[in-house]
Amino acid sequence: MTLQTFRGVAAVSIQHLREHLDQDVLVQGWLYNLRSKGKLRFLQIRDGSGIVQAVVAKGAVDDEFFEAAGTLTQECGVRLIGRPVEDARAPGGVELQPSYVEKVSASEDYPITKKEHGPAFLMEHRHLWLRSRKQAATMRIRDEVCHAIREFFYERDFYCMDSPMFTPNACEGTTTLFGVDYFGEQAFLTQSGQLYAEASAMALGKVYVFGPVFRAEKSKTRKHLTEFWMIEPEAAYYDLDDVMKLAEDFVSYIVGRVLERRRADLEVLERDLSKLEPATKTPFPRISYRDAEKLLEGDPTFEPGEDFGAPHETKIGAEFDRPVLIHRYPRKIKAFYMKADPEDADLALCVDMIAPDGYGEIIGGSQREEDLATLEQQVKKHRLPAEAFRWYVDLRRFGSVPHGGFGLGLERLVAWIAGAEHIRECIPFPRMLYRIYP
Ligand code: 4AD
Ligand code: MG
Repeated sequence: MTLQTFRGVAAVSIQHLREHLDQDVLVQGWLYNLRSKGKLRFLQIRDGSGIVQAVVAKGAVDDEFFEAAGTLTQECGVRLIGRPVEDARAPGGVELQPSYVEKVSASEDYPITKKEHGPAFLMEHRHLWLRSRKQAATMRIRDEVCHAIREFFYERDFYCMDSPMFTPNACEGTTTLFGVDYFGEQAFLTQSGQLYAEASAMALGKVYVFGPVFRAEKSKTRKHLTEFWMIEPEAAYYDLDDVMKLAEDFVSYIVGRVLERRRADLEVLERDLSKLEPATKTPFPRISYRDAEKLLEGDPTFEPGEDFGAPHETKIGAEFDRPVLIHRYPRKIKAFYMKADPEDADLALCVDMIAPDGYGEIIGGSQREEDLATLEQQVKKHRLPAEAFRWYVDLRRFGSVPHGGFGLGLERLVAWIAGAEHIRECIPFPRMLYRIYP
């Protein structure tokens, strides 16, 4: 028994219908929309890969199937056998001419209708909202980004070395930790896989971590999740310049891939492609923190020497047509593990990448402190528990070499590429300050 053939006809997903013109195919999915006009019924069928219109004409199919088509309701399961025919006006360029229509399951009073729904309502129904055209398009783009990421690193000999989710270490400060009782011991959900990535880089040279991270962010903005996915390359013998080059090559590669393979989805999202195309070319502009400060001159909300807030990032990002790299922030506002700039000890050898159009910081990275004594001082200065960091400091005892890397926030990147209004649309089931359902 297989559900992939029915009455001797093989299933084809909607995105591939074009490759089966004028042959009988089985399409299995859900009813997206139904419109009747005289002796014609226009069914929009979705299967996750796309949407196709099937036109059922009275007389052209058995009456039984014409009647069945009339009983379909929004989001009921539906199975059709039909022939894809070319139709320039149809999205995807094909329309389906069915000879068989079956309602597979009921769906009464589907809550998400054509009328406008508020975000709270949609979030409460996220398990269903994912079926909507734009949400599905965003998810397919996210999937493409994930594939591009793995291929980028595979082609460049980076090994995937995942970090644990349970950890005794605070990597990114102690204010956004989710504590966990680990069999009576205090542990945390990881904020970043970086520290383990550094150990992995000393073992395998060039590595990356690709996994979820957790931050008890009290920020209720359109850029913050409490659980998000981060991709963190880390490489031995990389300095800040190498890290910046890797970061821009990485982002331009991903944007190029999405433009090449997910154009139809970008169209569904009405994304202005001219806003993405410049990012397929490197180099990206690079400015120092000091230069960025100058761009904010006269802004009363900006305190020189402090970190940039969302409005500042938006202002800086607006100066450029592609993501901008800002390097060498003051050390005092950055993480303990960053190496000091040998030319100015008040600055860290770090870099943030800011996306255009208000999407904010998509990457944070740095060259790491490789000197044992300096790192030990840093752990002390930041009041981190020495015992939990013993293994990390140990890395500086045995063949410590210059190294660096960065973390890319997957959903931030997808939000910018897809032109999403809010980061919550860029992960299947977002976790946010006031949301853990569904
Ligand atoms: O800048 P962050 O905090 O850097 C790190 O965690 C480093 N340890 C990474 C490394 O060097 N390996 O976070 C990296 C990126 C940010 O640039 C942003 O894109 C994303 O993670 N990010 C968030 N995305 C969604 N929701 C949040 N609350 C985020 N916080 C950070
Ligand atoms: Mg950061």
